[in-house]
Amino acid sequence: MNIILIAAVTLDGYIARHSHEVIDWSEDLSLFKKQTMGHTVIMGANTRETLPFDLADREMIVVHKGDTPEQILSGITADTCFVIGGGKTNAIFAPYLTHLYLTVHPLVFGSGVKLFDGLKNEFGVQFINKITVNPERGIFQYQYAVKP
Ligand SMILES: NC(=O)c1ccc[n+]([C@@H]2O[C@H](COP(=O)([O-])OP(=O)(O)OC[C@H]3O[C@@H](n4cnc5c(N)ncnc54)[C@H](OP(=O)(O)O)[C@@H]3O)[C@@H](O)[C@H]2O)c1
Repeated sequence: MNIILIAAVTLDGYIARHSHEVIDWSEDLSLFKKQTMGHTVIMGANTRETLPFDLADREMIVVHKGDTPEQILSGITADTCFVIGGGKTNAIFAPYLTHLYLTVHPLVFGSGVKLFDGLKNEFGVQFINKITVNPERGIFQYQYAVKP
């Protein structure tokens, strides 16, 4: 199964200023919608609380303490699912990721929620593709495969 982490990140590696920030600075929402539409999306409870409504036409799985990634992933029969944040959830699912889709934004927060909050082990990636989001502002989505 493809297990794809998708996120909007700052230049200094943050995905939010704090755990309950409603993300209004991401410029890749239409790309996010296009790529995740029809697929299962996995998110942490904090991220769910920041969403004003359900994501249309996507099965949403909300992860709580006590859930394990193995349990969650074994219940998915589709060939692709997305891990959509936040930082704690990204770290918990990190050992199972096959791809990273990261849209880097020209912002520096200095502190906040890191892309991976509590990552235990280093892992390698290989660049696959780059998608233009906003060329004037230098915003691109970088796609990587996680090295086995
Ligand atoms: N820029 C982006 O692309 C992007 C994308 C998504 C989210 N975000 C932002 O990320 C922030 C939220 O990130 P976050 O890291 O604070 O939270 P999170 O990963 O969204 O959710 C954390 C929650 O997951 C649950 N959880 C499940 N397994 C856990 C475990 N083993 N250990 C600890 N907690 C576990 C807990 O919920 P319970 O307490 O209910 O058990 C915990 O409070 C928000 O500001 C959101 O807007 C940004």
